[in-house]
Amino acid sequence: MESIVARNRADLVKARGDGPVVLVPTMGALHDGHRALIREGRALGVRLVVSIFVNPLQFAPTEDFSRYPRTFEADLDVCRAEGVDVVFAPSVEDMYRPDRQVAITSGHMGTIVEGASRPGHFDGMLTVVLKLFNLVQPDIACFGQKDAQQLAMIRRMVTDLDLPIDVVGVPTVRETDGLALSSRNRYLSADERQVALALSRALFAGAVEPTPEKVRAAALSVLGAAAPELVLDYLALVDPATFEEVGDGYHGDAILAVAARVGATRLIDNAILRL
Ligand code: PAF
Repeated sequence: MESIVARNRADLVKARGDGPVVLVPTMGALHDGHRALIREGRALGVRLVVSIFVNPLQFAPTEDFSRYPRTFEADLDVCRAEGVDVVFAPSVEDMYRPDRQVAITSGHMGTIVEGASRPGHFDGMLTVVLKLFNLVQPDIACFGQKDAQQLAMIRRMVTDLDLPIDVVGVPTVRETDGLALSSRNRYLSADERQVALALSRALFAGAVEPTPEKVRAAALSVLGAAAPELVLDYLALVDPATFEEVGDGYHGDAILAVAARVGATRLIDNAILRL
């Protein structure tokens, strides 16, 4: 099926139409994890818009914005194959006016866990997501559980700013050996990919333990065994809604989140647990 490609706001307005819409925001370099998001959106049975925009605001100057994979033609093939109605792929100039002033502040939650390692990241991410919501005006938006704190922060923004949008979280897609799909996996050499398996193995080891102490200890032991090739950034066992660390006597749902560097590539992963 042909997807309509909207390269700017005016094209988007024409392509969107008047009916209900589901939005799947992406930064391109689409893989099977994105396909799962798109299929979830498609299954909702309304007009499906996929945005492809590598958002400079969510990358620090030291991060990989300029080398982030850009694979537009291949992404379009994925969108066509998955029956996407509209691909919204604006330029940076079209999204951000040169004299722009106002942005979203992600608050305390944007400064902990992933936010502590990537200052400003969640402000930039929420700013572009809100702009995409305003431009596309979706009724529903789909995001991956792989970026668990991002998903939690988007839900928080929708609640705090009274946005009339249903946010749907879609489970992480993994390779058969457990590696979570990520656009950044393509940076890994074969040896680095083997080392990177420690992230999911650590989560799986932690997930079967009954208490917060044992969860952390089991996961850290797997991660420690992969050092020094794997450099741990953080392992955090957090409340799924607030991303605050849970205490030793905690009972209920939790997210075990990990971030680590393998070679020059920073990877994140997480698992949902019931303690
Ligand atoms: O998850 C991503 O790909 C991005 O953070 C998002 C949500 C498309 C915003 O740029």
